[in-house]
Amino acid sequence: MSSSSVEIKPAQGKLGILLPGMGAVATTMVAGVFAVRKGLSKPIGSLTQMGTIRLGKRTDKNVPAIKDFVPLVDLNNIVFGGWDIFEDNAYQAAMKAGVLDKDLLQQIKPEMEAVRPMKAVFDQKYVRRLSGPNVKTGKNKMDMADQLRQDIRDFKKTNGCSRLVMVWCGSTEVFIKPTDVHQTIESLEKGLRENDPNIPSSMIYAYAAIMEGIPYANGAPNLSADIPALVELAGKQNVPICGKDFKTGQTLIKTILAPGFKARMIGLNGWYSTNILGNRDGEVLDDPESFKTKEESKLSVLEHILQPTVYPDLYGKFSHVVRINYYPPRGDNKEGWDNIDIFGWLGYPMQIKVDFLCRDSILAAPIVLDLALLLDLAGRTGFRGIQEWLSFYFKSPQHAASVYPEHDLFIQLMKLKNTLRWMRGEELITHLGLEYYD
Ligand SMILES: NC(=O)c1ccc[n+]([C@@H]2O[C@H](COP(=O)([O-])OP(=O)(O)OC[C@H]3O[C@@H](n4cnc5c(N)ncnc54)[C@H](O)[C@@H]3O)[C@@H](O)[C@H]2O)c1
Repeated sequence: MSSSSVEIKPAQGKLGILLPGMGAVATTMVAGVFAVRKGLSKPIGSLTQMGTIRLGKRTDKNVPAIKDFVPLVDLNNIVFGGWDIFEDNAYQAAMKAGVLDKDLLQQIKPEMEAVRPMKAVFDQKYVRRLSGPNVKTGKNKMDMADQLRQDIRDFKKTNGCSRLVMVWCGSTEVFIKPTDVHQTIESLEKGLRENDPNIPSSMIYAYAAIMEGIPYANGAPNLSADIPALVELAGKQNVPICGKDFKTGQTLIKTILAPGFKARMIGLNGWYSTNILGNRDGEVLDDPESFKTKEESKLSVLEHILQPTVYPDLYGKFSHVVRINYYPPRGDNKEGWDNIDIFGWLGYPMQIKVDFLCRDSILAAPIVLDLALLLDLAGRTGFRGIQEWLSFYFKSPQHAASVYPEHDLFIQLMKLKNTLRWMRGEELITHLGLEYYD
Protein backbone atom coordinates (compact mmCIF):
# COMPACT_ATOMS: atom_id res chain seq x y z
CA MET A 1 0.00 0.00 0.00
CA SER A 2 1.62 3.25 -1.06
CA SER A 3 0.84 6.62 0.44
CA SER A 4 -2.09 8.36 -1.13
CA SER A 5 -4.30 11.06 0.18
CA VAL A 6 -7.92 10.02 0.44
CA GLU A 7 -10.79 12.33 1.03
CA ILE A 8 -11.91 12.15 4.65
CA LYS A 9 -15.26 13.71 5.42
CA PRO A 10 -14.96 16.25 8.26
CA ALA A 11 -16.11 15.32 11.77
CA GLN A 12 -19.00 17.75 11.64
CA GLY A 13 -21.87 17.58 14.11
CA LYS A 14 -22.39 15.23 16.99
CA LEU A 15 -21.24 11.63 17.21
CA GLY A 16 -23.50 9.26 19.14
CA ILE A 17 -21.67 6.39 20.84
CA LEU A 18 -24.07 3.51 21.38
CA LEU A 19 -23.15 0.93 23.99
CA PRO A 20 -24.99 -2.38 24.26
CA GLY A 21 -24.13 -3.31 27.85
CA MET A 22 -23.83 -0.39 30.26
CA GLY A 23 -21.83 -2.07 33.00
CA ALA A 24 -18.38 -1.42 34.47
CA VAL A 25 -16.43 -0.81 31.26
CA ALA A 26 -19.04 1.30 29.49
CA THR A 27 -19.81 3.55 32.46
CA THR A 28 -16.11 4.00 33.27
CA MET A 29 -15.58 5.24 29.73
CA VAL A 30 -18.63 7.52 29.74
CA ALA A 31 -17.70 8.98 33.13
CA GLY A 32 -14.14 9.49 31.94
CA VAL A 33 -15.24 11.52 28.93
CA PHE A 34 -17.44 13.73 31.13
CA ALA A 35 -14.58 14.16 33.62
CA VAL A 36 -12.12 15.08 30.87
CA ARG A 37 -14.59 17.55 29.38
CA LYS A 38 -14.87 19.26 32.74
CA GLY A 39 -11.10 19.36 33.16
CA LEU A 40 -11.29 17.04 36.18
CA SER A 41 -8.99 14.36 34.77
CA LYS A 42 -6.76 13.49 31.83
CA PRO A 43 -7.55 10.79 29.24
CA ILE A 44 -4.62 8.57 30.24
CA GLY A 45 -4.31 5.40 28.16
CA SER A 46 -6.07 6.81 25.13
CA LEU A 47 -3.95 6.84 21.99
CA THR A 48 -6.35 9.16 20.18
CA GLN A 49 -6.22 11.73 22.99
CA MET A 50 -2.60 11.49 24.21
CA GLY A 51 -0.70 9.81 21.35
CA THR A 52 1.58 11.38 18.78
CA ILE A 53 2.67 10.31 15.33
CA ARG A 54 6.06 10.86 13.73
CA LEU A 55 6.00 12.18 10.18
CA GLY A 56 8.94 12.09 7.77
CA LYS A 57 12.53 11.57 8.89
CA ARG A 58 13.58 11.67 12.55
CA THR A 59 15.59 14.79 11.73
CA ASP A 60 12.40 16.56 10.56
CA LYS A 61 11.22 16.65 14.19
CA ASN A 62 7.61 16.63 13.00
CA VAL A 63 5.58 14.76 15.61
CA PRO A 64 1.99 16.07 15.79
CA ALA A 65 -0.66 14.78 18.17
CA ILE A 66 -2.79 12.10 16.50
CA LYS A 67 -5.93 14.11 17.19
CA ASP A 68 -4.46 17.08 15.31
CA PHE A 69 -3.23 14.93 12.45
CA VAL A 70 -6.48 13.14 11.54
CA PRO A 71 -9.94 14.68 11.85
CA LEU A 72 -11.39 13.05 14.97
CA VAL A 73 -14.56 14.13 16.66
CA ASP A 74 -13.98 16.48 19.57
CA LEU A 75 -14.87 15.00 22.98
CA ASN A 76 -17.34 17.88 23.46
CA ASN A 77 -19.30 16.68 20.44
CA ILE A 78 -20.14 13.21 21.73
CA VAL A 79 -23.43 11.91 23.13
CA PHE A 80 -23.88 8.52 24.73
CA GLY A 81 -26.65 5.98 24.54
CA GLY A 82 -27.03 2.28 25.13
CA TRP A 83 -29.00 -0.72 26.19
CA ASP A 84 -28.90 -2.85 29.33
CA ILE A 85 -31.03 -5.50 30.96
CA PHE A 86 -30.94 -3.43 34.17
CA GLU A 87 -32.76 -0.10 34.43
CA ASP A 88 -29.96 1.76 36.24
CA ASN A 89 -28.82 4.99 34.63
CA ALA A 90 -25.09 5.42 34.02
CA TYR A 91 -24.58 7.11 37.39
CA GLN A 92 -26.25 4.28 39.30
CA ALA A 93 -24.49 1.62 37.24
CA ALA A 94 -21.11 3.27 37.79
CA MET A 95 -21.78 3.49 41.54
CA LYS A 96 -22.62 -0.21 41.61
CA ALA A 97 -19.60 -1.15 39.49
CA GLY A 98 -17.43 0.57 42.11
CA VAL A 99 -14.60 1.35 39.70
CA LEU A 100 -14.50 5.13 40.10
CA ASP A 101 -14.41 7.21 43.27
CA LYS A 102 -17.75 8.45 44.52
CA ASP A 103 -16.27 11.96 44.69
CA LEU A 104 -15.52 11.99 41.01
CA LEU A 105 -18.92 10.53 40.10
CA GLN A 106 -20.61 13.15 42.25
CA GLN A 107 -19.08 15.92 40.16
CA ILE A 108 -20.52 14.53 36.92
CA LYS A 109 -23.76 13.19 38.36
CA PRO A 110 -26.29 15.13 36.20
CA GLU A 111 -24.55 14.15 32.93
CA MET A 112 -24.30 10.53 34.03
CA GLU A 113 -27.91 10.35 35.18
CA ALA A 114 -29.04 11.54 31.78
CA VAL A 115 -27.57 8.41 30.12
CA ARG A 116 -30.33 5.84 30.50
CA PRO A 117 -30.38 2.37 29.01
CA MET A 118 -32.92 1.40 26.39
CA LYS A 119 -34.60 -1.98 26.73
CA ALA A 120 -32.16 -4.73 25.79
CA VAL A 121 -32.37 -7.67 23.43
CA PHE A 122 -31.42 -10.43 25.81
CA ASP A 123 -31.85 -14.17 26.21
CA GLN A 124 -30.51 -15.89 29.30
CA LYS A 125 -29.63 -18.90 27.18
CA TYR A 126 -26.51 -16.98 26.13
CA VAL A 127 -25.52 -15.39 29.48
CA ARG A 128 -26.67 -17.86 32.09
CA ARG A 129 -25.60 -16.01 35.20
CA LEU A 130 -27.70 -12.89 34.47
CA SER A 131 -31.34 -11.94 34.38
CA GLY A 132 -32.87 -8.48 34.45
CA PRO A 133 -36.14 -6.65 33.88
CA ASN A 134 -35.24 -4.13 31.15
CA VAL A 135 -35.68 -6.39 28.12
CA LYS A 136 -37.62 -6.31 24.88
CA THR A 137 -40.15 -8.85 23.77
CA GLY A 138 -40.91 -9.65 20.16
CA LYS A 139 -42.25 -12.32 17.88
CA ASN A 140 -38.82 -13.44 16.66
CA LYS A 141 -35.17 -12.37 16.45
CA MET A 142 -35.76 -10.36 13.29
CA ASP A 143 -38.47 -8.45 15.11
CA MET A 144 -35.92 -7.75 17.89
CA ALA A 145 -33.44 -6.50 15.29
CA ASP A 146 -36.14 -4.21 13.86
CA GLN A 147 -36.83 -2.83 17.33
CA LEU A 148 -33.11 -2.11 17.81
CA ARG A 149 -33.00 -0.38 14.42
CA GLN A 150 -35.90 1.80 15.47
CA ASP A 151 -34.11 2.62 18.77
CA ILE A 152 -31.06 3.64 16.76
CA ARG A 153 -33.04 5.95 14.47
CA ASP A 154 -34.93 7.47 17.38
CA PHE A 155 -31.73 8.06 19.31
CA LYS A 156 -30.10 9.75 16.35
CA LYS A 157 -33.04 12.05 15.83
CA THR A 158 -33.70 12.91 19.47
CA ASN A 159 -30.05 13.72 20.11
CA GLY A 160 -29.40 15.50 16.83
CA CYS A 161 -26.47 13.24 15.91
CA SER A 162 -24.91 13.39 12.49
CA ARG A 163 -23.21 10.00 12.91
CA LEU A 164 -23.32 6.97 15.21
CA VAL A 165 -20.97 4.14 16.19
CA MET A 166 -21.68 1.07 18.31
CA VAL A 167 -19.26 -0.71 20.68
CA TRP A 168 -20.45 -3.95 22.32
CA CYS A 169 -19.68 -3.71 26.05
CA GLY A 170 -22.18 -6.40 27.02
CA SER A 171 -21.40 -9.58 28.92
CA THR A 172 -19.48 -12.46 27.40
CA GLU A 173 -21.89 -14.93 25.85
CA VAL A 174 -21.58 -18.71 25.82
CA PHE A 175 -19.26 -20.35 23.32
CA ILE A 176 -20.82 -20.76 19.88
CA LYS A 177 -19.01 -22.12 16.83
CA PRO A 178 -19.83 -20.73 13.36
CA THR A 179 -22.44 -22.90 11.66
CA ASP A 180 -24.46 -22.87 8.43
CA VAL A 181 -26.76 -20.09 9.61
CA HIS A 182 -23.75 -17.76 9.91
CA GLN A 183 -22.47 -18.28 6.38
CA THR A 184 -24.51 -15.94 4.17
CA ILE A 185 -26.69 -12.88 4.59
CA GLU A 186 -29.68 -14.93 3.40
CA SER A 187 -29.11 -17.76 5.88
CA LEU A 188 -28.63 -15.29 8.73
CA GLU A 189 -31.80 -13.38 7.89
CA LYS A 190 -33.73 -16.63 7.60
CA GLY A 191 -32.28 -17.67 10.99
CA LEU A 192 -33.38 -14.35 12.51
CA ARG A 193 -36.90 -14.91 11.28
CA GLU A 194 -36.93 -18.53 12.48
CA ASN A 195 -35.28 -17.88 15.87
CA ASP A 196 -32.23 -20.00 15.15
CA PRO A 197 -30.55 -20.84 18.51
CA ASN A 198 -27.11 -20.14 17.02
CA ILE A 199 -27.90 -16.41 16.83
CA PRO A 200 -27.13 -14.87 20.23
CA SER A 201 -28.18 -11.36 21.29
CA SER A 202 -24.84 -9.73 20.41
CA MET A 203 -25.28 -10.87 16.80
CA ILE A 204 -28.70 -9.23 16.64
CA TYR A 205 -27.16 -5.91 17.75
CA ALA A 206 -24.36 -6.27 15.19
CA TYR A 207 -26.87 -7.03 12.43
CA ALA A 208 -29.01 -4.02 13.42
CA ALA A 209 -26.00 -1.68 13.50
CA ILE A 210 -24.66 -2.80 10.14
CA MET A 211 -28.10 -2.59 8.51
CA GLU A 212 -28.33 1.00 9.81
CA GLY A 213 -24.90 1.79 8.34
CA ILE A 214 -23.27 2.15 11.75
CA PRO A 215 -19.66 1.07 12.42
CA TYR A 216 -19.55 -1.78 14.95
CA ALA A 217 -16.85 -2.97 17.37
CA ASN A 218 -17.10 -6.02 19.60
CA GLY A 219 -15.36 -5.74 22.96
CA ALA A 220 -16.23 -9.26 24.12
CA PRO A 221 -14.84 -12.56 22.83
CA ASN A 222 -18.16 -13.96 21.57
CA LEU A 223 -18.62 -14.14 17.79
CA SER A 224 -21.04 -11.24 17.31
CA ALA A 225 -19.99 -9.72 13.95
CA ASP A 226 -17.21 -12.26 13.35
CA ILE A 227 -19.14 -14.46 10.95
CA PRO A 228 -19.03 -14.57 7.13
CA ALA A 229 -22.62 -13.29 6.82
CA LEU A 230 -21.97 -10.10 8.78
CA VAL A 231 -18.57 -9.51 7.17
CA GLU A 232 -20.31 -9.71 3.80
CA LEU A 233 -23.10 -7.44 4.99
CA ALA A 234 -20.57 -4.89 6.30
CA GLY A 235 -18.93 -4.85 2.86
CA LYS A 236 -22.25 -4.39 1.14
CA GLN A 237 -23.42 -1.65 3.50
CA ASN A 238 -20.02 0.16 3.51
CA VAL A 239 -19.68 -0.30 7.25
CA PRO A 240 -16.37 -0.75 9.11
CA ILE A 241 -16.39 -3.48 11.77
CA CYS A 242 -13.80 -4.86 14.20
CA GLY A 243 -13.36 -7.10 17.25
CA LYS A 244 -12.98 -9.15 19.37
CA ASP A 245 -12.32 -8.80 23.10
CA PHE A 246 -10.62 -5.67 24.41
CA LYS A 247 -6.90 -6.25 24.96
CA THR A 248 -6.42 -5.33 28.61
CA GLY A 249 -4.76 -6.84 31.70
CA GLN A 250 -2.94 -10.07 31.38
CA THR A 251 -3.19 -10.43 27.61
CA LEU A 252 -1.85 -6.92 27.14
CA ILE A 253 1.20 -7.88 29.21
CA LYS A 254 1.51 -11.14 27.26
CA THR A 255 1.57 -9.36 23.92
CA ILE A 256 4.19 -6.95 25.29
CA LEU A 257 6.49 -9.66 26.71
CA ALA A 258 6.18 -12.45 24.12
CA PRO A 259 7.41 -10.35 21.15
CA GLY A 260 10.42 -9.41 23.31
CA PHE A 261 11.32 -13.05 23.97
CA LYS A 262 10.95 -13.86 20.30
CA ALA A 263 13.01 -10.84 19.26
CA ARG A 264 15.91 -12.17 21.38
CA MET A 265 15.34 -15.84 20.39
CA ILE A 266 14.64 -16.82 24.00
CA GLY A 267 12.77 -20.13 24.28
CA LEU A 268 9.56 -20.86 26.15
CA ASN A 269 8.68 -24.04 28.07
CA GLY A 270 5.46 -22.83 29.59
CA TRP A 271 3.26 -19.91 30.51
CA TYR A 272 0.79 -20.32 33.34
CA SER A 273 -1.68 -17.46 33.79
CA THR A 274 -4.25 -17.17 36.50
CA ASN A 275 -6.61 -14.36 37.43
CA ILE A 276 -8.83 -13.51 40.34
CA LEU A 277 -11.57 -10.96 39.84
CA GLY A 278 -14.79 -10.12 41.59
CA ASN A 279 -16.88 -7.93 39.30
CA ARG A 280 -20.00 -8.89 37.33
CA ASP A 281 -17.81 -9.88 34.39
CA GLY A 282 -16.03 -12.30 36.74
CA GLU A 283 -19.36 -13.72 37.82
CA VAL A 284 -20.44 -14.24 34.20
CA LEU A 285 -17.08 -15.87 33.41
CA ASP A 286 -17.60 -18.23 36.34
CA ASP A 287 -20.00 -20.07 34.04
CA PRO A 288 -17.85 -22.64 32.17
CA GLU A 289 -19.54 -21.91 28.82
CA SER A 290 -18.82 -18.16 29.01
CA PHE A 291 -15.30 -18.91 30.26
CA LYS A 292 -14.72 -21.19 27.26
CA THR A 293 -15.36 -18.23 24.93
CA LYS A 294 -12.85 -16.15 26.90
CA GLU A 295 -10.32 -18.97 27.12
CA GLU A 296 -10.30 -19.48 23.34
CA SER A 297 -9.68 -15.76 22.95
CA LYS A 298 -6.82 -15.69 25.44
CA LEU A 299 -5.08 -18.88 24.34
CA SER A 300 -4.43 -18.17 20.68
CA VAL A 301 -2.25 -15.13 21.40
CA LEU A 302 1.03 -16.93 22.12
CA GLU A 303 0.72 -19.40 19.24
CA HIS A 304 0.43 -16.57 16.77
CA ILE A 305 3.19 -14.40 18.20
CA LEU A 306 5.72 -17.18 18.79
CA GLN A 307 5.11 -19.18 15.58
CA PRO A 308 6.01 -22.69 16.86
CA THR A 309 6.23 -24.11 13.34
CA VAL A 310 8.78 -21.50 12.29
CA TYR A 311 10.80 -21.87 15.54
CA PRO A 312 10.31 -25.48 16.69
CA ASP A 313 13.45 -25.45 18.89
CA LEU A 314 12.23 -22.41 20.82
CA TYR A 315 8.45 -22.70 20.84
CA GLY A 316 7.67 -26.21 19.54
CA LYS A 317 6.20 -27.59 22.75
CA PHE A 318 5.36 -24.94 25.32
CA SER A 319 2.42 -25.43 27.60
CA HIS A 320 -0.04 -22.56 27.98
CA VAL A 321 -2.70 -22.51 30.68
CA VAL A 322 -5.17 -19.71 31.45
CA ARG A 323 -7.48 -19.65 34.46
CA ILE A 324 -10.02 -17.10 35.70
CA ASN A 325 -11.42 -17.40 39.18
CA TYR A 326 -14.37 -15.42 40.47
CA TYR A 327 -13.41 -13.98 43.85
CA PRO A 328 -15.91 -11.32 44.98
CA PRO A 329 -13.72 -9.39 47.50
CA ARG A 330 -11.57 -8.04 44.67
CA GLY A 331 -14.37 -6.30 42.77
CA ASP A 332 -13.04 -4.73 39.59
CA ASN A 333 -9.46 -4.83 40.86
CA LYS A 334 -8.18 -7.94 39.22
CA GLU A 335 -4.99 -9.73 40.08
CA GLY A 336 -3.31 -11.51 37.21
CA TRP A 337 -0.40 -13.83 37.94
CA ASP A 338 1.88 -15.14 35.28
CA ASN A 339 4.54 -17.76 35.74
CA ILE A 340 6.72 -17.86 32.66
CA ASP A 341 9.25 -20.67 32.16
CA ILE A 342 11.77 -19.52 29.61
CA PHE A 343 15.15 -20.91 28.50
CA GLY A 344 18.29 -19.30 27.18
CA TRP A 345 21.73 -20.14 25.77
CA LEU A 346 22.27 -23.92 25.61
CA GLY A 347 18.79 -24.48 26.97
CA TYR A 348 19.38 -23.21 30.54
CA PRO A 349 16.01 -22.57 32.23
CA MET A 350 14.90 -19.33 33.87
CA GLN A 351 11.65 -18.07 35.33
CA ILE A 352 9.78 -14.79 35.28
CA LYS A 353 6.88 -14.05 37.64
CA VAL A 354 4.53 -11.20 36.88
CA ASP A 355 1.90 -10.13 39.39
CA PHE A 356 -0.25 -7.47 37.79
CA LEU A 357 -2.60 -5.77 40.23
CA CYS A 358 -4.67 -4.17 37.56
CA ARG A 359 -7.97 -2.38 37.20
CA ASP A 360 -9.81 -3.99 34.36
CA SER A 361 -12.24 -1.25 33.48
CA ILE A 362 -9.59 1.46 33.84
CA LEU A 363 -7.59 -0.36 31.17
CA ALA A 364 -10.63 -1.02 28.97
CA ALA A 365 -12.28 2.43 29.04
CA PRO A 366 -9.76 4.27 26.81
CA ILE A 367 -9.96 1.39 24.34
CA VAL A 368 -13.71 1.87 24.00
CA LEU A 369 -13.23 5.59 23.41
CA ASP A 370 -10.43 5.11 20.87
CA LEU A 371 -12.39 2.46 18.99
CA ALA A 372 -15.44 4.68 18.78
CA LEU A 373 -13.41 7.62 17.48
CA LEU A 374 -11.31 5.60 15.05
CA LEU A 375 -14.28 3.65 13.69
CA ASP A 376 -16.02 6.97 13.09
CA LEU A 377 -12.90 8.13 11.26
CA ALA A 378 -12.83 4.89 9.26
CA GLY A 379 -16.45 5.42 8.26
CA ARG A 380 -15.76 8.99 7.11
CA THR A 381 -12.72 7.73 5.19
CA GLY A 382 -14.86 5.22 3.28
CA PHE A 383 -13.32 2.10 4.86
CA ARG A 384 -15.58 -0.93 5.08
CA GLY A 385 -15.51 -4.51 6.34
CA ILE A 386 -12.94 -5.79 8.86
CA GLN A 387 -10.58 -3.09 10.15
CA GLU A 388 -7.40 -5.06 10.85
CA TRP A 389 -5.49 -1.85 11.58
CA LEU A 390 -7.50 -1.72 14.84
CA SER A 391 -6.12 -5.14 15.96
CA PHE A 392 -4.03 -3.12 18.45
CA TYR A 393 -7.07 -2.96 20.72
CA PHE A 394 -8.11 -6.63 20.69
CA LYS A 395 -7.12 -9.93 22.26
CA SER A 396 -8.51 -11.88 19.37
CA PRO A 397 -8.37 -9.57 16.35
CA GLN A 398 -10.96 -10.17 13.69
CA HIS A 399 -9.14 -10.83 10.44
CA ALA A 400 -9.69 -11.87 6.85
CA ALA A 401 -10.07 -15.62 6.39
CA SER A 402 -6.96 -15.72 4.17
CA VAL A 403 -4.48 -14.37 6.77
CA TYR A 404 -3.53 -15.07 10.37
CA PRO A 405 -4.28 -12.41 13.00
CA GLU A 406 -1.47 -10.11 14.11
CA HIS A 407 -1.06 -10.19 17.90
CA ASP A 408 2.30 -8.45 18.43
CA LEU A 409 1.41 -5.13 20.08
CA PHE A 410 4.29 -3.30 18.40
CA ILE A 411 3.47 -4.52 14.89
CA GLN A 412 -0.17 -3.66 15.60
CA LEU A 413 0.80 -0.12 16.62
CA MET A 414 2.95 0.32 13.52
CA LYS A 415 0.05 -0.86 11.35
CA LEU A 416 -2.35 1.53 13.06
CA LYS A 417 -0.06 4.53 12.69
CA ASN A 418 0.85 3.69 9.10
CA THR A 419 -2.86 3.50 8.28
CA LEU A 420 -3.28 7.01 9.69
CA ARG A 421 -0.25 8.21 7.68
CA TRP A 422 -1.73 6.61 4.57
CA MET A 423 -5.07 8.34 5.13
CA ARG A 424 -3.31 11.72 5.12
CA GLY A 425 -0.98 10.97 2.21
CA GLU A 426 2.14 10.90 4.42
CA GLU A 427 5.14 8.67 3.81
CA LEU A 428 4.78 5.29 5.58
CA ILE A 429 7.49 4.71 8.17
CA THR A 430 9.36 1.44 7.82
CA HIS A 431 12.15 2.29 10.30
CA LEU A 432 14.69 1.58 7.58
CA GLY A 433 17.39 4.25 7.89
CA LEU A 434 20.33 3.73 5.55
CA GLU A 435 22.19 6.92 6.47
CA TYR A 436 25.38 4.86 7.00
CA TYR A 437 25.33 3.29 3.54
CA ASP A 438 25.89 6.11 1.01
N1 LIG B 1 -12.76 -4.97 31.59
C1 LIG B 1 -11.93 -5.51 30.77
O1 LIG B 1 -10.73 -5.36 30.92
C2 LIG B 1 -12.42 -6.29 29.61
C3 LIG B 1 -11.46 -6.76 28.71
C4 LIG B 1 -11.89 -7.48 27.60
C5 LIG B 1 -13.22 -7.71 27.40
N2 LIG B 1 -14.14 -7.27 28.31
C6 LIG B 1 -15.53 -7.58 28.05
O2 LIG B 1 -16.28 -6.41 28.06
C7 LIG B 1 -17.59 -6.75 28.46
C8 LIG B 1 -18.03 -5.78 29.54
O3 LIG B 1 -17.26 -5.96 30.71
P1 LIG B 1 -17.71 -5.29 32.08
O4 LIG B 1 -16.62 -5.50 33.05
O5 LIG B 1 -18.25 -3.96 31.82
O6 LIG B 1 -18.93 -6.27 32.47
P2 LIG B 1 -20.24 -5.89 33.27
O7 LIG B 1 -20.83 -7.20 33.68
O8 LIG B 1 -19.97 -4.86 34.32
O9 LIG B 1 -21.15 -5.17 32.16
C9 LIG B 1 -21.78 -5.87 31.14
C10 LIG B 1 -23.19 -5.34 31.05
O10 LIG B 1 -23.80 -5.92 29.90
C11 LIG B 1 -25.16 -6.12 30.21
N3 LIG B 1 -25.69 -7.04 29.21
C12 LIG B 1 -25.49 -8.36 29.08
N4 LIG B 1 -26.11 -8.83 28.00
C13 LIG B 1 -26.71 -7.77 27.41
C14 LIG B 1 -27.51 -7.60 26.26
N5 LIG B 1 -27.82 -8.65 25.49
N6 LIG B 1 -27.95 -6.38 25.94
C15 LIG B 1 -27.65 -5.30 26.73
N7 LIG B 1 -26.91 -5.41 27.85
C16 LIG B 1 -26.44 -6.62 28.17
C17 LIG B 1 -25.14 -6.60 31.64
O11 LIG B 1 -26.39 -6.41 32.25
C18 LIG B 1 -24.06 -5.72 32.24
O12 LIG B 1 -24.58 -4.55 32.83
C19 LIG B 1 -17.57 -8.22 28.93
O13 LIG B 1 -18.01 -9.05 27.88
C20 LIG B 1 -16.10 -8.44 29.16
O14 LIG B 1 -15.73 -9.80 29.01
C21 LIG B 1 -13.76 -6.54 29.41
